[in-house]
Amino acid sequence: MADIVSVAESRRAESVGREIVVQGWVRTRRDSKAGFSFIELNDGSCFGNVQIIAEASLPNYESEIKRLAPGACASVAGLVKASPGKGQATEIQAASIVVHGLADAEAYPLQKKGHSFEFLRTIAHLRPRTNTFGAVARVRNRVCNSIHQYFQEQGFIYVHTPIITTSDCEGAGAMFQVTSLDPAKNAEGGKGIDFSNDFFGRPAFLTVSGQLEAETFACALSKTYTFGPTFRAENSNTPRHLAEFWMIEPEVAFCDLWGDMDLAEGLLKRIFRDVLEHCPEDMEFFNQRIDKTVIETLRHIIDSEFLRVSYSDAVEILQKSGRKFEFPTAWGNDLQSEHERFLTEEHFRRPVILYDYPRQIKPFYMRVNDDGRTVRAMDVLVPKVGEIIGGSQREERLELLEQRMKEQGLDPAHYWWYLDLRRFGAVPHSGFGLGLERVIQFITGMANIRDVIPFPRSPGNAEF
Ligand code: 4AD
Ligand code: MG
Repeated sequence: MADIVSVAESRRAESVGREIVVQGWVRTRRDSKAGFSFIELNDGSCFGNVQIIAEASLPNYESEIKRLAPGACASVAGLVKASPGKGQATEIQAASIVVHGLADAEAYPLQKKGHSFEFLRTIAHLRPRTNTFGAVARVRNRVCNSIHQYFQEQGFIYVHTPIITTSDCEGAGAMFQVTSLDPAKNAEGGKGIDFSNDFFGRPAFLTVSGQLEAETFACALSKTYTFGPTFRAENSNTPRHLAEFWMIEPEVAFCDLWGDMDLAEGLLKRIFRDVLEHCPEDMEFFNQRIDKTVIETLRHIIDSEFLRVSYSDAVEILQKSGRKFEFPTAWGNDLQSEHERFLTEEHFRRPVILYDYPRQIKPFYMRVNDDGRTVRAMDVLVPKVGEIIGGSQREERLELLEQRMKEQGLDPAHYWWYLDLRRFGAVPHSGFGLGLERVIQFITGMANIRDVIPFPRSPGNAEF
């Protein structure tokens, strides 16, 4: 019995001379006048296809093989030979081909090449079969692998924080509600819904961040991280926002803001190094077809230190730039993406970590600085994408934390368990959140965040 191997393995020069079976989907078929066909087969294991040579003498040549069109599925048994063709080390001389499923060339939406990404979003169930989305999927997989390795090698404990929650971490009020009540029946008479009858006996939501729960584990297991789906109902129809995205959130005891920055910088460099090393073919594609600067940018970042600039200094740079911005750059305002882009793309021309933001624009859990007007926050900003990481040193002083909650209209009683962490063995601790899709956008150069997640959720979009 011949070994069943991946297309990736069949394409390696070392495979020459082996009798193997490959299985995948047809990308193209060309028939030569000399009485044989070339079939390009792909199984997602790598960017490139393997070329199959099918002679007319094969028993099912006329009945099936000549009907193989893009999208059809087949298994091919044969001998791997050195290929005389350019850009491929091997090809397979087919001894037999089993056709699993034909695809109607007229109806198959990917018969034609060069579809726009907008169109491909309308066929999200088929787009993994395109070059671009196969490459995105492999890079995304590699990034996830690197993230786990980075933390595991340093002794972090992977914690699963809940997806359904009754507390609002970011205080932004943009949460999806979770209920088992029938809203139509329960809102009768305009009295509103009585949540004491609901599944949890109170209003519940999809989480916007696993941070608060992760803190409870960091205050026991020291070094932890979460990696899970996150939900935000904000109606931001932008190329950088999703309603459902994946976030990696380390939370570390005995760690201050500087240690937090080191951890973030180390993580990003590790991810970039691994992607360049393990996905060279995919990265070459992104570099040629999507954004000609991605490889050079990643290499440069790996070799240089991230700049660390305070929010106040950044505001001064913006004000002195002479640039007319749409939004004002006064101290105390949140930075808009035009400001972040100016700093990373034009002024510094590389990633920068901004820190010590005004207290009034940041959530309650960030540690207040001695100046009383800033908090120990940090955002990692990169060219084109803007913010990919948001983090902070946490407020570990009970009274100050309660005060901050009240300041932001939150009821400390509701967060009693979170405050307990400050009552029993309080510890200086820090953490951050890395947006998985944002980092993949940055690596690949893909302009729209909806094209780096398998099934994007955004306002009005949840078809697949
Ligand atoms: O800055 P954010 O809101 O921080 C937090 O949620 C903290 N609780 C994290 C922590 O300290 N543990 O979000 C963190 C990151 C952002 O920098 C961004 O990369 C990503 O999550 N992000 C989004 N990605 C896609 N779509 C959205 N709507 C996003 N909102 C945030
Ligand atoms: Mg943020």
